[in-house]
Amino acid sequence: MSTFFIEKKAVPTDEAVNSIRICRPDSFVDDLGGLTEPQINFINAQKFLAEAGQTLILPAEDGKISTILFGAGKSEYSYTNSPILIGSLASILKSGYYEIVSKPDTWTEELIAIFWGLGVYKFDKYIKDQPVPPVLICSNEAVTQESTNIVTALHRGRSLINTPPNDMGPVALQQSAQDVADRFGATLNSIVGDELLQHNYPMIHAVGRAAAEPPRLVELKWGNQDNPKLTLVGKGITFDSGGLDIKSAAGMRIMKKDMGGAAHVLALGEMIMAANLPINLTMYLAIAENAISANAFRPSDVLSSREGLSIEVDNTDAEGRLVLGDALTKAAEANPDLIIDFATLTGAARVALGPTLPPFFSNRDEPVSNLLQSGTDQVDPFWHMPLWKPYLSLLSSPIADMKNAGGSFAGAVTAALFLQKFVGDTPWMHFDVYGWNPTNSPSKPKGGEIMSVRAIYHWLKNGGLKAR
Ligand code: BES
Ligand code: MN
Ligand code: ZN
Repeated sequence: MSTFFIEKKAVPTDEAVNSIRICRPDSFVDDLGGLTEPQINFINAQKFLAEAGQTLILPAEDGKISTILFGAGKSEYSYTNSPILIGSLASILKSGYYEIVSKPDTWTEELIAIFWGLGVYKFDKYIKDQPVPPVLICSNEAVTQESTNIVTALHRGRSLINTPPNDMGPVALQQSAQDVADRFGATLNSIVGDELLQHNYPMIHAVGRAAAEPPRLVELKWGNQDNPKLTLVGKGITFDSGGLDIKSAAGMRIMKKDMGGAAHVLALGEMIMAANLPINLTMYLAIAENAISANAFRPSDVLSSREGLSIEVDNTDAEGRLVLGDALTKAAEANPDLIIDFATLTGAARVALGPTLPPFFSNRDEPVSNLLQSGTDQVDPFWHMPLWKPYLSLLSSPIADMKNAGGSFAGAVTAALFLQKFVGDTPWMHFDVYGWNPTNSPSKPKGGEIMSVRAIYHWLKNGGLKAR
């Protein structure tokens, strides 16, 4: 694992340290002070105005780097005009040591470090020349440690999503969970293949039984049982072909990311365990490949569920809610203080809010405003959406208790309403994450992405679980 951050005192003395100045447009030339006339000419010739994200590497007389100027734009602070910008600088710098010597007050060192780390990410597992990332010098051990833990968890999560499905099938995904468990001394249990039927997880079995690698429910447990009990649940569809309701080529192209919910659970779990938060943590990964074979489940099949509800399969491509349904029922049986699930659940979520703003649903009102605030504070936002009961009628079936798809209206809402049927009255939050950056943008390289997890981690760290 690469080093992204280092304390000043740990920098080898023979290593050059490059300074970075994060500038505002109005006054940066005065603020910088001590610039030579050639440097001021250089700034003007390059039209550097300290606009948001603008970068200028200012040479010394010998042509080496004197300092790196980075524009923070005007002082309004927003999602796009925040430390998230620093990731674009980090992504272009060569390996070496870098130090921020001046910055706007609203740009915290913590967030600069996090976005530095997110910006330098490259999925290089299948590439010969593995780049060495530039290292940011942090002021103290606490910032270095926590930022390293958070960024490492997010990098691992991204890489789980980016790993192609021929190397990230149900067996490999379980093994990745095992690696996490081993690293933090968590215990792992799994129920695999036909055992799912004996232990009453019929929907996970139905979705995954057509694949070469059998479906499974993986359970991880960590922490002191006396602490507040948090259960995380993740959708782990290692590839979503759509099943017999097969997807189009375009629709299937990025469906390796359909285990993104499981990757989110493991990333959040890693953060919680690395920080040793006082939480009694359980994680469930509902793992299957939605494949096609002679024994694939079909549209119009009626499935039983762990909850006891009968489910008519309206569409085999609405498979995530089926595997999650059984996992959520299991999670609720232990009466945790809170269940949080993550799932790349609906295309409709993307129609509603686009790729960077996950819809978030909860059957409780109280924690919502604090959690949303944490999303804003951490520049890791999501949007509160309604569990609008009247739309439950869209899921009614003439021959079963419910069907698994509700047509084209409010698809993210009907999917969330479907899941709600399986948690009973247990406090519950559901994040319908895209898990993917469709293009490169600052701190968000194209490919797998972990969303809303940093915000939740900080909310938990600040006592969110008790305040519900
Ligand atoms: N994994 C997809 C959801 C998805 C699709 C997420 C595209 C991100 C991008 C999910 O299993 C799915 O196929 N959902 C269907 C549900 C429909 C059949 C009710 C969808 O959203 O089209
Ligand atoms: Mn699907
Ligand atoms: Zn899916």
